[in-house]
Amino acid sequence: MSQTLHDQITFMNIRKFIANDRPKVIALWKSSFPNDPPHNAPALVLDAKLAVDDLVFVVEQRDEIVGACIAGYDGHRGWLYGVAVAPVCRRQGVGSALIYFVLKELNLLGCKKVNLQIRTGNATVTAFYQALGFAVEERLSMSTFIQ
Ligand SMILES: CC(C)(COP(=O)(O)OP(=O)(O)OC[C@H]1O[C@@H](n2cnc3c(N)ncnc32)[C@H](O)[C@@H]1OP(=O)(O)O)[C@@H](O)C(=O)NCCC(=O)NCCS
Repeated sequence: MSQTLHDQITFMNIRKFIANDRPKVIALWKSSFPNDPPHNAPALVLDAKLAVDDLVFVVEQRDEIVGACIAGYDGHRGWLYGVAVAPVCRRQGVGSALIYFVLKELNLLGCKKVNLQIRTGNATVTAFYQALGFAVEERLSMSTFIQ
């Protein structure tokens, strides 16, 4: 392992979100998901999630938030949302470390299977999840908005 990579791993702190992280996490999601619809505005999503539970996770490196995601567990399945790593920190194992951490946290809650959705325009990210052991399942995803 190179010294640079060793230093990056040494200084990677993965933990639950705290209030001080809010502007940095919002900025990270804005830059990572620039085409998301207005109802997925990062501030709205973050506040709505924190009103329900605290399963929001961040990766901190040298006082910067370089990774974040939301997890959910409904007693049957776990879900991942908003998985993002700062562009300058990608392909350094940050995203993998975050997902492994979150899977462990979900498993501690009793979760045995985790689902996620990838927008069709973002299909290249499939390789990231496959490298982590996720498999594509033959499903159609449906949803509705509740007025
Ligand atoms: C997807 C994302 C979180 C990956 O984070 P990351 O820190 O770069 O991922 P890692 O460094 O842990 O990658 C681990 C492995 O996944 C695969 N991988 C990661 N990004 C990839 C990409 N863009 N294309 C192909 N394979 C990729 C590689 O096998 C990689 O290992 P390698 O670098 O040794 O080849 C990051 O690219 C990102 O934030 N993208 C924008 C937001 C997004 O689309 N999120 C997913 C929503 S479903």
